[in-house]
Amino acid sequence: MSIFKSATLDLPEVRRIPLHIAIIMDGNGRWARKRFLPRAAGHVKGVETVRKVVRAAIEEGVEYLTLFAFSSENWRRPEREVSQLMALFSSALDKEVAKLGRNGVRLRVIGDLTRFAPELRARIQKAEEQTASATREACRLHLTIAANYGGRWDMLQAMNRLGAERVDAVGQWTEMDLEPYLSMHFAPDPDLFIRTGGEKRISNFLLWQMAYTEFYFTDLLWPEFDAQSLKEAIVSYQQRERRFGRTSEQLAGTPAE
Ligand code: IPE
Ligand code: IPE
Ligand code: MG
Repeated sequence: MSIFKSATLDLPEVRRIPLHIAIIMDGNGRWARKRFLPRAAGHVKGVETVRKVVRAAIEEGVEYLTLFAFSSENWRRPEREVSQLMALFSSALDKEVAKLGRNGVRLRVIGDLTRFAPELRARIQKAEEQTASATREACRLHLTIAANYGGRWDMLQAMNRLGAERVDAVGQWTEMDLEPYLSMHFAPDPDLFIRTGGEKRISNFLLWQMAYTEFYFTDLLWPEFDAQSLKEAIVSYQQRERRFGRTSEQLAGTPAE
């Protein structure tokens, strides 16, 4: 059972600094096109932003950072771009893993990894194991990369596994029964969702987990996003009133009329 409170079954604790931030890193292609560069150059630049944002998240005291790197629908892109993205993911894993571990960052990759090349899957597994053992004593940040991830896929894989294991209870499953099978079972629900690149949509990201997440959209393209931009998103979050269904008066503790 999750140690975190469900936004629908319970009232989660609200802190000044979001415990979990989830980001759709969008706009790499447009950033490159504006500079007459190939889209791949935007993705390369985007990896630099990931580094910056990971560092900034640690400094801000964020404990869970989940980044959407490749959606289940991104396979629809030209083959060349897909293979460039895979190569970039693979080389970033190679280059960054030791540093992540040293800095107390535990890496996880969520999504349907069965579609990835066996070498990439092996690399992912190794990276997860390496950072898990490096952060056993002290973990400062849980960094999760969503790759070939889709919110609908996530819910379905969870339901299918629950169905197979708990066939006795069909018709009586609860949220708490499903929770352990979802990809993000180890983390609280995101407090804050950020999407760069100007689009105002969820693009099949964490559908189940974002039931009560605060949304923040910025026109900045992902390669332009930095520590200051993250701060601004957090400041915007701090101005929200997270009611979880209650009234403002209830939150303020003023008596009902
Ligand atoms: C986000 O940038 C990165 C991935 C989806 C992999 P895009 O590649 O979607 O950039 P735009 O939206 O075309 O500018
Ligand atoms: C969403 O970005 C997925 C990632 C950032 C990995 P897209 O650029 O693929 O989203 P849509 O297609 O514009 O919704
Ligand atoms: Mg895009």
